[in-house]
Amino acid sequence: MSTDAIVLLKDEHKLIRKAFRDFEKAGENAHKPKGRAVDRIIELLTVHTYIENEVMYPRVRELLPDVEDDVLESYEEHHVADVLVVELSTMKPTDERFTAKTTVLIENVEHHIEEEEEEWFPKVREGLGRKVLQELGADMIEARKKAPTRPSQPSALKKTIDAVIA
Ligand SMILES: [Fe+2]
Ligand SMILES: [Fe+2]
Repeated sequence: MSTDAIVLLKDEHKLIRKAFRDFEKAGENAHKPKGRAVDRIIELLTVHTYIENEVMYPRVRELLPDVEDDVLESYEEHHVADVLVVELSTMKPTDERFTAKTTVLIENVEHHIEEEEEEWFPKVREGLGRKVLQELGADMIEARKKAPTRPSQPSALKKTIDAVIA
């Protein structure tokens, strides 16, 4: 099985997009399906940003100084998503701002994923090569085992706070 880091991350992007579509497909007052879709979105994003922040981004920054600006911008985009995810995790689907906040989260993350996939992951593939990407992916699979699945878990909170004070 391939452990190519970019392949693994793109597979997760597909699952994230699928959860976004599930949310959008649910009817306006379909509180249960919307709530379930948002729970799934929160879990997928919490795991995904953790793995990128803890494993992929630091390694890329260290090995490919040319991509550093892209990595820094992506950290900030994760931070915006983190804030929205934390807020959403405390809301009910019946709350007035639940749909609006989810919609803004989706717009932000769609834009972010597009930048990763179109703008800087190709530079990472070219710069790191197959072998390093395989090793990086194997490390990501390890990190996923201890990744938080809810934003209230200590390791997720620490990541959110580090982004503010670093
Ligand atoms: Fe990301
Ligand atoms: Fe990503």
